[in-house]
Amino acid sequence: MAQTIAVLDFGSQLTQVIARRIRESQVYSKIYPFATPAAKLREDGVVGIILSGGPQSVYAKTAPHPDPEIFKLGVPVLGICYGVQLMGHFLGGTVAHSKAREYGHGVLTIKKAGKLFAGLPKKLRIWNSHGDKLTNLPPGFVATAVSDNSPFAGIEDPKRGFYGIQFHPEVFHTERGVDMIRNFLVTVCGAKQDWTTKDFIAHAVADIRAKVGKSRVLLGLSGGVDSSVAAALLHKAIGKQLTCVFVDNGLLRKGERDYVESLYARHFKIDLRVVDASKLFIKRLKGISEPEQKRKIIGRTFVEVFEKSLKSIGGAQFLGQGTLYPDVIESVSIAGNPASLIKTHHNVGGLPERMKLKLIEPLRELFKDEVRLVGAALGLPKEVVWRQPFPGPGLGVRVMGDITADKLEILRNADHVLQDEMMKSGYYWKVWQSFAVFLPVKTVGVFGDERTYDYVIALRIVESVDAMTADWAKIPHDLLQKISSRITNEVRGVSRVVLDISSKPPATIEWE
Ligand code: XMP
Repeated sequence: MAQTIAVLDFGSQLTQVIARRIRESQVYSKIYPFATPAAKLREDGVVGIILSGGPQSVYAKTAPHPDPEIFKLGVPVLGICYGVQLMGHFLGGTVAHSKAREYGHGVLTIKKAGKLFAGLPKKLRIWNSHGDKLTNLPPGFVATAVSDNSPFAGIEDPKRGFYGIQFHPEVFHTERGVDMIRNFLVTVCGAKQDWTTKDFIAHAVADIRAKVGKSRVLLGLSGGVDSSVAAALLHKAIGKQLTCVFVDNGLLRKGERDYVESLYARHFKIDLRVVDASKLFIKRLKGISEPEQKRKIIGRTFVEVFEKSLKSIGGAQFLGQGTLYPDVIESVSIAGNPASLIKTHHNVGGLPERMKLKLIEPLRELFKDEVRLVGAALGLPKEVVWRQPFPGPGLGVRVMGDITADKLEILRNADHVLQDEMMKSGYYWKVWQSFAVFLPVKTVGVFGDERTYDYVIALRIVESVDAMTADWAKIPHDLLQKISSRITNEVRGVSRVVLDISSKPPATIEWE
């Protein structure tokens, strides 16, 4: 059995980030519900416990508390933020309830390095986010570090292997936080650093098999990174019990459908059903020019087509989804926040409930870069693992205004030229997204001796790290020149190419 570090989850949004930091140290970790019995942790061979942060006060009526027996297991415990208050509360210290939260940057001064702060400088920038704080140490503990607001920013009882820190070592804003976590894992708990992507896959495969049994899983494959990696992982686990459905909505890029078919059906031998619903989508979108309305129609039609395909495959018990951890956070923080409704990004919301399927989300604990590593280890090609994001509504939001088959064809051809040149030059891999936008504006041109009156294509090429902000990419002029002249020469109906040089904000990445 792998040596497991248990992360007890007391409701912090950062619990997964702690788990990620542990994985980065090549140690196996598992997130457990906060009240998991100590006996279960012992049974699982847990060699160390981390108590996560959490939004509550330890005194609140609904405050999540651990099984007190965890402190008697004889394994080291690290309390982070709310976790350290729990240690104070359960081990005989005092925690002061405070209404005001201490939030943001602070400075940590280390008084005694001990095992946790070994090898670190005396002063470090840290990130705080807590209300209550420890005011009296539990017996056996000493203070190891102080901050501006707390004489007990770091505490330890090395005899029992108990450590506590008031701030968040898992976030990027805490300097050397990763080293503190690694010190706990390796020096305090003696965990082996031998956990790899391969191990993740082996565990995920075992989990999927245990959960799914002999049932069937349906997965909507979009061809994007997340659903592709989820498909490959599910397929490795359950083979023919997985059926993937790829819906051709008529809003795909050139060659996309063939690529998906050849990779998943022919190469991976996945049971892939390609549903050509392009006519239906285009018919429903006829005359619609308002972007949110287009998105709704596309989303609704997708659900309808997808539901039908479930019947045609003879039913399933599970719906597979390539949900990643940031999607989970986003959907939590989205609730009640009208700003997050600026765009209705998710096409499949509500689908599992409507279809009465249980969800299986094998990537739910991972971040994007980890998913890419898993995809590569499963044998997915670079073109899939590192592909640029593509919106669910596809070219539907890249043809400005109302959509017709002709406009889509022009856009598809222009976009193909752009992608081809981006790939050949290698710039495709250096930017966040590069795509063409169809502008329903006709401008005058000359072609040979004739005057033309044709459409405009805009090039949108941006750099970004997370799509929250973006800047236009500084592509060499000779490459832009080649793209422009190829589009006007090769794509009928286009006589002018423009470059979008706006950043986000105030512009968005997509035009609609
Ligand atoms: P914006 O245009 O908001 O885009 O700057 C940010 C990122 O989200 C993608 N995007 C979408 N993805 N459905 C999606 O699945 C959508 O409706 C949608 N709209 C934008 C966009 O491509 C960029 O990566």
